[in-house]
Amino acid sequence: MILDNQVAIVTGGATGIGKAIALALAAEGADIVVADLNKKIATKTAAEIEALGVKSIAVVCDVTKPWMVKKLGATAIEKLGRLDILINNAGVAGGPGWYEHARSREEDWIACYEVNVKGIFNCIEAIAPIMKEQRSGKIVNLASIAGREGRPALPHYSASKAAVINYTQSLAADMAPYDINVNAVCPGLLWTPMWGQVGQRYAQTNPDYAEMPAREVFDKMVADIIPLGREQTPEDIGDCVVFLVSEDARNITGQAINVDGGAFMR
Ligand SMILES: NC(=O)c1ccc[n+]([C@@H]2O[C@H](COP(=O)([O-])OP(=O)(O)OC[C@H]3O[C@@H](n4cnc5c(N)ncnc54)[C@H](O)[C@@H]3O)[C@@H](O)[C@H]2O)c1
Repeated sequence: MILDNQVAIVTGGATGIGKAIALALAAEGADIVVADLNKKIATKTAAEIEALGVKSIAVVCDVTKPWMVKKLGATAIEKLGRLDILINNAGVAGGPGWYEHARSREEDWIACYEVNVKGIFNCIEAIAPIMKEQRSGKIVNLASIAGREGRPALPHYSASKAAVINYTQSLAADMAPYDINVNAVCPGLLWTPMWGQVGQRYAQTNPDYAEMPAREVFDKMVADIIPLGREQTPEDIGDCVVFLVSEDARNITGQAINVDGGAFMR
């Protein structure tokens, strides 16, 4: 298997896209640290990963807390022996209850910046020195197609994901001399708990989707903006991440790859 004897940390790895990424990496032989806010769900996911025949540990970690992230790198090395891959997947679409409001509030901007952008900075500060020291490593940041173009329904989220794409380029240049690849993935439309919230916001703010339940908003948007005409799945994102951390992608760095059925052709 292509990731045998490697160890990966997946932030926000307990559910949704992060869980699918963790399972995809494990299916290729990697041992996995599932880092998430919720110990119970993270532990359940780690057990599912171990059923694939690799090692997995669940670690409670809030990426906005530098001291928790610092412990994460040390725990990976102590319990699993090494650290090769970091997937910065943890993300939020706003502050608590953001989707119940028609407009972005200050707390939505702060939450998106703290988790989606500064959360990656915290993980990089803690983990990049380990990778630089060993002169190898692969990092993938979860951005979004919302980072490709402004989204009036959720400007706070859209701006944070544009920052992730830009920050990925800075990191890739910084880490290239150490043979560390840093890339981003921009998922398109995936029906996860996060999109349940996003759909509610669109129904409130966009006349094309007025009064529709979130799932109907989602289905209409898939039909409206995705040339291939189908939604993306967490497994699609897992497959792309496996490629980006594999040797096949050794000459790819500083890129943001859209996995969006052609919604953005750039
Ligand atoms: N669902 C989509 O359509 C979509 C599209 C584009 C990009 N994304 C991005 O993909 C990533 C995963 O999204 P998802 O749809 O699976 O979301 P989700 O809400 O279903 O899952 C997010 C996970 O991150 C964890 N998390 C949240 N805040 C955290 C923190 N401070 N520290 C550690 N863990 C934290 C949550 O507990 C949860 O397990 C996010 O970065 C999101 O912005 C999602």
